Amino acid sequence: MKWQTRVTKLFGIEYPIIQGGLAHLAYADLAAAVSNAGGLGQITAMSLPHPEHLRKEIQKVKRMTSKPFGINFAIGQHGRPYEEMVEVAIEEQVPVVSVTGGNPKHVLDKLVGQPMKKLVLVASKRQAIKAEELGADAVIVVGQEGGGHLGRADTGTFVLIPQVVDAVSIPVIASGGIIDGRGFVASLALGAEGIEMGTRFIATKECVDAHPMYQNAILAADETATVVIKRSLGMPARALKNQWTEEILKLEKAGKGYEDLKTYISGVANKRFIHDGDAENGFGWAGQGAAGITDIPTVHELVSRIVNEGNNIRQSLIKKEK
Ligand SMILES: Cc1cc2nc3c(=O)[nH]c(=O)nc-3n(C[C@H](O)[C@H](O)[C@H](O)COP(=O)(O)O)c2cc1C
Repeated sequence: MKWQTRVTKLFGIEYPIIQGGLAHLAYADLAAAVSNAGGLGQITAMSLPHPEHLRKEIQKVKRMTSKPFGINFAIGQHGRPYEEMVEVAIEEQVPVVSVTGGNPKHVLDKLVGQPMKKLVLVASKRQAIKAEELGADAVIVVGQEGGGHLGRADTGTFVLIPQVVDAVSIPVIASGGIIDGRGFVASLALGAEGIEMGTRFIATKECVDAHPMYQNAILAADETATVVIKRSLGMPARALKNQWTEEILKLEKAGKGYEDLKTYISGVANKRFIHDGDAENGFGWAGQGAAGITDIPTVHELVSRIVNEGNNIRQSLIKKEK
């Protein structure tokens, strides 16, 4: 069964399944595995220390796959400069660039006249309309179930997707809480033409930078196991609940600002959990969909499974109609 949509055509991929940017976790190994499995893998640029590290990862991914891949730029991270990183992506003529975390105009302007496809992550109808006006080729729409940084309005994926589908004419990619073939087909039913997943790809064999403790915490999670932190800073983000996130929430409730919170919410605290496996002295982003993740397959097994589940759902819906 074919799953061709405007998203597969736009990127030249087999299945409309995209691996989201994953800070400190998504480099060449994961990106190449997803692209080789027929989806679109992405390297997360902004957690690399230097533009030349990005160039190395791009060159590595090019050796590992001949398929299209993307470079993700989270541009809102406390003024960290991203211009040189974008320059590297242009010099290396990467097939796809995705932008999140701030006004994408500057990056999109730099890409005018370049052949790469431009993706913008949004969390509201207003942002999606703006992204289309600025020249995005497609939008990834992230509902509040998702892992990592979220929109401020707490709108769920199921409500947000059809709203955006009706408001823009570029293809919409659904994200937030999707982990299997059911979420895949449901997203297409809502009018999306593809899906993006973050948390599900962390629990795969090729997510080599994720500590087994972090992966096991995702497997152990139920639907109440995540919590939104940093809301008081205007940057809500979903993480696995633990002692560390409870402490952050306590400080936020006490009215503490960025200066008091910065060591708690830093990349260092994030890496202590996700790279070093320290379950209590750091934090790890994850979405509510972790509740339905119960194994650590290869990326190829995961993508094939989602597509097969999708095929079966399609067949069973057709049978029900007869
Ligand atoms: C650990 C983690 C790190 C993330 N880092 C980024 C990032 O650097 N850039 C980005 O665009 N999105 C980032 N996200 C968001 C994901 O790309 C994706 O939109 C989100 O995970 C979708 O929700 P899901 O986790 O329910 O699949 C991150 C998510 C997680 C779980």
